[in-house]
Amino acid sequence: MTRVLTGIQSSGDLHWGNYFGAIKPMLDFQADKKNEMFFFIADLHAFTSQSDSKKFAEYQTNAVLDWLSLGVDPDKSLFYRQSDIRSHTELTWILLCQTPMGLLERAHSFKDKKAKGLEANAGLFTYPVLMASDILLYGANLVPVGKDQKQHVEMSRDIAQKFNHRYGETFTIPEPTIAENVATIPGLDGQKMSKSYGNTIEIFADEKTLKKKIMSIKTESVAMGDPIDPKTCAVFAFHKLFENPDLAKLEKQYKAGEIGFGDSKKQLFELVWEFFAPARAKRAELEKDSKLVEKILKTGAEKANAIAEKKLKTVREKVGLDSKHII
Ligand code: ADP
Ligand code: TRP
Repeated sequence: MTRVLTGIQSSGDLHWGNYFGAIKPMLDFQADKKNEMFFFIADLHAFTSQSDSKKFAEYQTNAVLDWLSLGVDPDKSLFYRQSDIRSHTELTWILLCQTPMGLLERAHSFKDKKAKGLEANAGLFTYPVLMASDILLYGANLVPVGKDQKQHVEMSRDIAQKFNHRYGETFTIPEPTIAENVATIPGLDGQKMSKSYGNTIEIFADEKTLKKKIMSIKTESVAMGDPIDPKTCAVFAFHKLFENPDLAKLEKQYKAGEIGFGDSKKQLFELVWEFFAPARAKRAELEKDSKLVEKILKTGAEKANAIAEKKLKTVREKVGLDSKHII
């Protein structure tokens, strides 16, 4: 059995980058019975940048509905919310005391966010250690993520190796898995699609918003009737990702100057609207059961807690915190 685990922050609506970078690879792993699957809502990570408690709670409910609609199957995968499993924060403290400052100071994600002027609290700085706890508590072998998270998973490896070296074999060493063709999905402006950069296209956007966003994808300026190179066209790249069945025909039209960006974008809209139609229908169905989210999270929390607590107990014993068993 291979344990496959990933988390997504509940800090806003899911976008195409999340879908291709993390959700789709996880769904592919879920389809193989040899894998033991762990999906979780990383609400404590989202907490590093939240300021509105009402919205914060809403995002969590939305995240559960989104994931279920897109295909996470709680009968096949353990599905839970990070903050329901207290062991994550306790292990984080233990691991923080094993983590050199220098390791965290090298994190690209922290440096990028700081450079973009985002407020850097200590939670954001120590974020990779919480992520290490998320992964190591469950003995994950594989961690599907987008390219931006690769360094964080490598830090989890470093932290695990250091701990094993000091206290004896305790943690499985995780591997990041990154699908190369979807390593970094570009946003509307051509840089990495990200909630923090305001350049996202949401999976569950309504028809009007989706159309508007697709029409605003940045393209080069090409005169009408001139050929367009499909290899450098962001719109064409999306046709490919969303598996346009007429891709070969479209490629020919691009090269012959028979199609402009406007028409290509209109076709992309049709393609994407169809692509997510089953997920939209499922979401509308799931929303009718007001108790569903609570039920699913409760079951997930019980199962995840049992696994996490067992690992944490071992860790506490190894480091000398559990010698007296007072509680
Ligand atoms: P955001 O950058 O919008 O805040 P998250 O950090 O919550 O997104 O990302 C959740 C998952 O989706 C991670 O595995 C991340 O690597 C992946 N991901 C996010 N944006 C992209 C992207 N543009 N391309 C590929 N994967 C992405
Ligand atoms: N940091 C990840 C992100 O922003 C989310 C995350 C938290 C995660 N814990 C994780 C991903 C553990 C994989 C494994 O995208």
